Amino acid sequence: MAILVTGGLGYIGSHTVVELLNNNFEVVIVDDLSNSEKFILKNIEEITGKKPAFYPFDLKRKELLTQVFDAYSIEGCINFAAYKAVGESQEKPIDYYENNLFSLINILQEFKTRGLSNFIFSSSCTVYGQADEMPIDENTPLKMPESVYGKTKQMGEEILIDFAKAYNRKVSLLRYFNPIGAHPSSKLGELPIGVPNNLVPYVMQTAAGIREKLSVWGNDYPTVDGTAVRDYIYVVDLAKAHVAALKRLLSNQSEESTIDIYNLGTGTGSSVLEVVKAFETANNVEVPYKICDRREGDITVAYANANKAEKELNWKSETSLEEALRTTWEWQKYLNSRNN
Ligand code: UD1
Repeated sequence: MAILVTGGLGYIGSHTVVELLNNNFEVVIVDDLSNSEKFILKNIEEITGKKPAFYPFDLKRKELLTQVFDAYSIEGCINFAAYKAVGESQEKPIDYYENNLFSLINILQEFKTRGLSNFIFSSSCTVYGQADEMPIDENTPLKMPESVYGKTKQMGEEILIDFAKAYNRKVSLLRYFNPIGAHPSSKLGELPIGVPNNLVPYVMQTAAGIREKLSVWGNDYPTVDGTAVRDYIYVVDLAKAHVAALKRLLSNQSEESTIDIYNLGTGTGSSVLEVVKAFETANNVEVPYKICDRREGDITVAYANANKAEKELNWKSETSLEEALRTTWEWQKYLNSRNN
């Protein structure tokens, strides 16, 4: 019995593959390397001492996907494969819809015809938009996200809910808050292509001198110091939540449809400047920054109520912001050593 992990060489995917292997799951990775690199596979093998099966193809290639399902006895899927750059999604909406939704549907066609269940979907807190109240729990009303990227997440959720209901299958929708950090071995981490959009990769590259200054997008928000607040969750903690969600689906004997939904965050919000300070303290480095205008489409504040995941998955975030940011810096040093 194997777990199909799509996008398994990506940022969250690779950390989850390690946790799955450490929990003795057989893993089959499909990843087209469009936003990941082959050395990550070697590093997964070094960390775990195990060799997951790996197929480098685009999930839109249905005939190749069918061959993987023919070759393995798949008992579940964790679907990370998706484009994820918010800005780019506005410029290339059709590419985003095609990539993120067709690949999902191709896997679900295989699941449907083969009678398979246990599907875990990477969703995002972006499905809540700017929620009226904090913290955000799973009953917080959804708002159609502004970005095409966010819409593909919300549509993906709807597709999976309909799939589960129509065919009595089990699915888990995991709504991540802001994933950060790298593996303690420093062999896995986020590999931004070009100029990073997300805060922590930009902070990391600024500290390393690759970027001159961090632009802090807005200091006139109604928050503790005027900068926007998010819930930064350590990627290894997040990876562990996937294993817990998978085990829950696998042990669920119900013949009925199951739709598990969890917010995965720490429960604590941190402002942009708090993240900058925490990075400086954790790593004893300087992060030069300048205050700029707000970034279009940004919300003021988002942090999770993750009590449901704690109760049902026996999971909670364990790693502090500073510790997560320390692993980020170690990862940058590892990348520097690879480039030298
Ligand atoms: C973004 C996406 C979200 C997606 C998530 C994935 C938007 C509007 N939302 O979340 O849908 O799920 O990434 O990780 O893009 N910041 C700066 N300077 C920078 C970069 C960021 O000040 O150079 C600030 C932002 O304004 C924001 C915070 O840092 O307040 C976090 O930004 P980011 O890491 O991009 O994440 P989100 O915007 O929360």
